[in-house]
Amino acid sequence: MLDIIWDETYSVHIAEIDQQHQKFTAMLDMLFEAIEAGRPQSALSEILRELVAYAGYHFDAEEQLMIKHHYPEFGEHHKEHEVFRNKILGFQKNFQEGRETLTGDVVQFMTHWIAEHVMKADKKYAPFLNARGVF
Ligand SMILES: [Fe+2]
Ligand SMILES: [Fe+2]
Repeated sequence: MLDIIWDETYSVHIAEIDQQHQKFTAMLDMLFEAIEAGRPQSALSEILRELVAYAGYHFDAEEQLMIKHHYPEFGEHHKEHEVFRNKILGFQKNFQEGRETLTGDVVQFMTHWIAEHVMKADKKYAPFLNARGVF
């Protein structure tokens, strides 16, 4: 199991976003378990594909909320999402072309990045959106 799992300390007090963070963490854990269990590359590749798609979906959902409520730090936040998006897309490409191996360490890295992003960047927009009635 991953060394980080979602709990209340990660809550941004917006139900939809908390659910997405939980789902994303569960998907990372699924990938981690699949690697540990020695599942074939094709299976890992499929989970990774879903993970990349879900990250995009989640980042878009957050960005839509920020735009809708004119969050002043949208630009910075969007940049952080882009960095991660590019990182996993680049990784996915390398993995598919056989230039990189999918290891538990890679998944731990993604998990730590997400955890830190939630704790710092997401927790920063949370009170702003909560104050505008978004829960
Ligand atoms: Fe998030
Ligand atoms: Fe975010």
